[in-house]
Amino acid sequence: MQTYAAELDKCEDTFIQAFKEHPVLAHLDRLDNATLEELLLQRRLVSLHFTPLYERAICALDSEEAKEVFRWLIREEYPRHGPNHREDFVADLQEIGLSKERILTAKPIGTTQAVIDGMYNLTAYRNEGNQYYGKGYDIHTIAALRLGSEVLPSVEYHALLGELGRRYGDKEYKHIRSHAYHDAKRTKIGESGTSHSDRLSTILAGMVDNDERLYVAVRAMYAVDCIKKGFYDQFKPQERG
Ligand SMILES: [Fe+2]
Repeated sequence: MQTYAAELDKCEDTFIQAFKEHPVLAHLDRLDNATLEELLLQRRLVSLHFTPLYERAICALDSEEAKEVFRWLIREEYPRHGPNHREDFVADLQEIGLSKERILTAKPIGTTQAVIDGMYNLTAYRNEGNQYYGKGYDIHTIAALRLGSEVLPSVEYHALLGELGRRYGDKEYKHIRSHAYHDAKRTKIGESGTSHSDRLSTILAGMVDNDERLYVAVRAMYAVDCIKKGFYDQFKPQERG
């Protein structure tokens, strides 16, 4: 089993590295203010789908252990007291000078809606995988959401945090800062850890115990990496004329 976990971890690291090197994300300093602001407004619209995606996964997953982690991840978004993470994201954007009206009336443009639809399609319940491989839906969905909704967002928010500090000064940036740290991959797949993504690591490793299941997980990672890179593609200078 360790061999499969190590292989999966290696594949995931390859996807993470490719995402980090996306020409927009790796060079946020090259975007003009208007483009960076649009990127942030659009990124918030994607972020709003975090909770419904997780709620749907919880209903569909078989693994009680995985369901419990996803339930906890949702609770993390809504502290018992004070603002929730959606409110924090609005506050972050107000800190860089965007008006409440502009933030709350922004609509998905370009491929943003396709990115949102892509995440729903990718994690829609399918039984065929279970017939062929057993645990197919669970492996596919845990691999996709761990990478696409925890690990890669931490990469995005790390890059954005640095750029916002450089451009607008050191402010609280509560949503962006907290997700940059608490979502990050800190341990290898198969090793236990406490970050949001790490909490799914041993569960995923425990399920991937043959070649077919490894293929299901890697395919899900590849698909989510493509969706996530698609979001940043729309902010390439050549895409914006
Ligand atoms: Fe998280």
